[in-house]
Amino acid sequence: MTEKRTSIHGQWSSRMVFILAATGSAVGLGNIWKFPYMAGENGGGAFVLVYLVCILLIGVPIMMAEILLGRRGRQSPINTMSALAQEAGASPRWAWLGWIGVVAGFLIMSFYSVIAGWALAYVLKAMSGDFVGFTGDSSAAAFVGHIGNPGITTFWHTLFSVMTGYVVARGVKSGLEKAVRILMPALFVLLVLLLGYAINTGYFDRGVAFLFDPDFGKLSREGVLSALGHAFFTLSLGMGAIMVYGSYMPGKASIATTTFTIAFMDTLVALVAGMAIFPIVFANGLEPGAGPGLVFISLPIAFGQMPGGLLFGTLFFVLLTFAAWTSAISIIEPAVAFLVENRGLSRRRATAVVVGLAWALGLLTVMSFGGWGFTFEFAGAQKTDGIFDILDIVTTNFMLPLGGLAIALFAGWVMSSKDTAEELGSGETGLYHVWRVLVRFVAPAGVLLFFLHSLGTF
Ligand code: TRP
Repeated sequence: MTEKRTSIHGQWSSRMVFILAATGSAVGLGNIWKFPYMAGENGGGAFVLVYLVCILLIGVPIMMAEILLGRRGRQSPINTMSALAQEAGASPRWAWLGWIGVVAGFLIMSFYSVIAGWALAYVLKAMSGDFVGFTGDSSAAAFVGHIGNPGITTFWHTLFSVMTGYVVARGVKSGLEKAVRILMPALFVLLVLLLGYAINTGYFDRGVAFLFDPDFGKLSREGVLSALGHAFFTLSLGMGAIMVYGSYMPGKASIATTTFTIAFMDTLVALVAGMAIFPIVFANGLEPGAGPGLVFISLPIAFGQMPGGLLFGTLFFVLLTFAAWTSAISIIEPAVAFLVENRGLSRRRATAVVVGLAWALGLLTVMSFGGWGFTFEFAGAQKTDGIFDILDIVTTNFMLPLGGLAIALFAGWVMSSKDTAEELGSGETGLYHVWRVLVRFVAPAGVLLFFLHSLGTF
């Protein structure tokens, strides 16, 4: 029935490289910057528990679906969806899924690059010994001063945009594969080191209790929706990034095994980051609900005190930048692949267009912290960072879960079980049936329930 397609953009050299690239996409600012501050804002344990359930029951099956669609379609998400819809005799409107993903990608990249720019700037600060003698107050003041200066943050945002464009323009294969192989393990080693420091603060138990003792009274409606949204964000799901990476995946690799590996690594990094950060937060009298500044304020205090802090601080922010870098390329790859396929642009041109647009949009986030911030209420929670918060909420809490829902419905209901079983390579085994139930019923119902809950319906 289906002729085997090949991607015009090339293919990862092995299954291992696909795992590294997809893990590189998944592990990023979401794990180290966003997860701790979201857990902090939402009272800790109960948020973490809901988040873990979302990863396992919704994220993992949808990731398998997204990889499967990509590998079968072998094109940018827009073209993959039209090809697969046609193959299944379904409406060509499924291509909209790809379009919404491209828009979400622009919006996400716009703020992602600004935050990654903060990390980049902090490399220089760490190297110059700025953190030495930091207290909770002085570290917070330094951070607020930094992000409140739009000239400086625009500079670093620009640099990060160019770095991302550079890699994407060269093709994901050349250069990046090697980089991730060394950098991802290095990041992990550093996190463990920080964990060691956190254990010695004397506040480790309190940090761990904060993360793992669920107190559902502290979980707002917004918190529940954010846990779902964050599960999508951290696994890079719902907008075609994992789909496009799947389209470069070797045909024979097992989708289930790779998905579990990626989701496991991603979750581990987030939890270790949380266990490293919260003890430092409590030991220094900081506020766990401090918001986006949490990591940038708490860790420099630790680096300013520990022996070798200059070196470790520098390394940490270098690696955080690299983690963000390997994620950012996946955020813009769907749009770039589309422009190359459908508009006949060279990869370099296509990248320049996409990066340029996302960069300009990013100035809104720069200004959200640089004087234009405003406060509003969302689902019962106070938001203080204006347009940045809006971009974050619209993409993470709405576009990604809705994109994921559509992916689940397509893989579960539109495609035939024969086709999905063939692509998953598991035949009609027990595991396949578990996946199919999850993707047809559990994941879609889960997403809908979360939406209804946050709208206050029940
Ligand atoms: N998962 C990455 C992180 O946690 C961010 C990311 C990369 C992403 N690609 C994405 C988020 C696609 C949403 C969609 O930092």
